[in-house]
This record gives sequence, C-alpha cells and structure tokens, in this order.
Amino acid sequence: NFYAVIMAGGGGTRLWPLSVQERPKQMLSLNGKRTLFQMAVDRLEGLFPAERILVVTVAEQARKLQEQVPEIPAENYLLEPMPRGTASVVGYAAAVLAQRDPGAVMAVLTADHFIEEVEHFQAVLRAAKSVAEQGYLVTLGIRPTAPATGYGYIQRGESLGAFGGQEVFRVQRFKEKPDEATARGFLERGDHDWNSGMFIWTVEQILAEIARWMPELSEKLAAIRKAWDTPERGAVLAQIWPTIQPQTVDYGIMEKAERVAVVAGADLGWNDVGSWDSLFEVLEGDEHGNLVVNAQHLGLDTHASLVVGDGSERLLVTVGLDDMILVDSGSALLVCPRSQAQKVREIVKLLKENG
Ligand code: GDD
Ligand code: MG
Repeated sequence: NFYAVIMAGGGGTRLWPLSVQERPKQMLSLNGKRTLFQMAVDRLEGLFPAERILVVTVAEQARKLQEQVPEIPAENYLLEPMPRGTASVVGYAAAVLAQRDPGAVMAVLTADHFIEEVEHFQAVLRAAKSVAEQGYLVTLGIRPTAPATGYGYIQRGESLGAFGGQEVFRVQRFKEKPDEATARGFLERGDHDWNSGMFIWTVEQILAEIARWMPELSEKLAAIRKAWDTPERGAVLAQIWPTIQPQTVDYGIMEKAERVAVVAGADLGWNDVGSWDSLFEVLEGDEHGNLVVNAQHLGLDTHASLVVGDGSERLLVTVGLDDMILVDSGSALLVCPRSQAQKVREIVKLLKENG
C-alpha cells in the first residue's frame, strides 16, 4: 500500500512574529481559511485515505495539529519526545510502517509548503511510486529560478524514461544547501533541480539505506520498533529518542545514497513560503497589489504591501506605503521593506541571544 508521511515538527522562524515556537509555520493560515498543515492534508484527497496518512510531530505540537485535522486517526500521529531532524522522522515512520505493512511505499511530505497544482502533484506522486518500487529513493525536483542557498540541489544523470507521463532521471549527485558560488555554477550548468524536500521510497529501501549510512540511528529505530506493540513503547521511546544525534535526511542519507532518482522539474506551483515576501508568489493581491491577511486594514495610497494581522478587531491603517511588510501578531509588530524580508531570520536569532 501507498502511505503519506507528513513531517510536521519544524519551527520555521522566517515568518516571525507570527511563527514562533508555540505557533510554527505549518499552523499558520495564510489565506485566512486553512492552515498550511490542513492544506498539506487537503491535497492528498483521493490519493490517500485518512488511515494511510501518518503525521510525525513533536509532542508539544501534537494536540493542536490533531485539532486541526481530526480525520486522521489518533494512532497515526507519531510523537517525537523532541525534534531530532528529518532523518529520525523518516526512520521513525518507516519503522512503524514496517510493523503494519512491510511492503509499504511511503511518500514523505512537508507540512509547511504551498502547492498550487494539486492534480499535477498527485500525478507526480503516482509516477514516483512506480519508480520507488524499483528500489530507488525518489526525489521531486523543482526547476530552480535563483541560486538560493537554502535548498538541496539535484543533478540529473541518465534518463530512466517516462513514468505516468513524468520524465524521470537517475540522480548524479545530491548536494544539500551549497554556498552561493556553487549554486550559481549549478544554475549555469542547467542540469540541476532544487530538492522539494519530499521523497518517495519503499519502507524496505529506506530502512536499508539508514542501516548503511546511519547505523547508530538504525539500531535505535530497531529498538523502538521492537517495543512498539508492547506496553514498553512509551518508556523505550522516552529513553532512546533523546540519545539520537540530530541529523537531516538530506545530509544523512540523500548526499550519500547511490540509487536515487528524480522526477525532474515538476511544475507544481511549489513554494516553500520561506519569507513574508514569498506570500506574493502564492496569494492574489487586491487592485492595489496589496495582500491583506487576517486583518482589518484601511489603506490610503498604499501599494504592493503585505498587511498581516492576528485576527483581532484592531484596525491597521497605512498611508503612503509602498512595497512594505507589516505583521501584527498581537505581541509584536514587524515593519520591514519587502526587499529585506530575508533578514527576519536574523531578528529571531538576535531575540534568542538576548533572551
Ligand atoms: N516532525 C518533525 N521533526 N518534523 C521536522 C523536524 C523534526 O525534527 N525537522 C524538520 N521537520 C519538518 C519541517 O516542519 C518541514 O515540513 C520539513 O520537515 C523540512 O524541514 P525544514 O527544516 O523546513 O528543512 P529545510 O527547508 O531547511 O530543507 C529541506 O527542504 C528544502 C525545500 O524546502 C531540505 O530537504 C532541502 O534539501 C530542500 O531543498
Ligand atoms: Mg523548509
């Protein structure tokens, strides 16, 4: 069977002050209706019944996520005592699935991205499943538009042919988060895609890769798996999980694995919503090019600006504002030119350092 595993335990500090420890990015609603997590589940409709969707998250986020998506059975929410990176997330889900359905294929999906072309996304997942069944670790490539340093890069090798109408290539090399000069080189060569952060593979294959490249994690997962259907489950998890070395699946597995494929240049309308400015790529502005999210806003001579509120009645008024970002979270107010939206990350760092 085909399962979806949604990784939903990240912090996501780039949308400060709305995304904070207690309200991470996947819990934000950018269109005032559904949160990114709910949208991540919505786009699986028709492909994965709720019983075949697993959500891996940290204990402190679990309750809120479950409230947002009660359709997914409670036992499908896998709780991590604390975040240990995506390698452990993937391993955890694979270990649990191996108990339930040893022949399972899993699609590892993100909880905090935006995907516009849902039908195409599902077609790509179906195609990727057939490739995964041949023992490949399958990545979804996104056509790169800039030498971004926050993404993984996938170099296409020989063609593996078309699967369900999708071009699939063997991966020559996977490079996680290169520096800017390297990324520029990748773009000039024209044979690299961005890694979308979503993966499709069989449970059997990913467990074998973890055993090969991350033997320590593999042993810990085996112990968790052994205790899973016993009364010791909670105790074993609480004892072992904190000893896991934090690592991502990109550095820990993907950069090393040999049998990797990419569904190339998938045109998904994908956006990782990595900054406030990226909202302009995923939402439609009003007649003045303004985006108003969750706020009562009165604008005079205001253009191409983003106004985000906390859903309260407070009236946000702007006069003579161009290309600006204004985010009112109730407890903090951010005012920032759109051209400097990337710097919000530095604010979060500064705030942490100063307690
Ligand atoms: N449950 C859980 N536990 N989820 C986690 C954890 C964890 O410890 N760490 C991260 N996640 C979740 C995040 O919520 C997100 O949905 C996903 O896993 C990816 O984690 P990020 O922290 O957002 O990774 P990234 O953006 O730096 O890089 C990844 O995504 C890029 C595309 O957006 C990589 O896969 C890159 O190669 C890729 O280009
Ligand atoms: Mg991310």
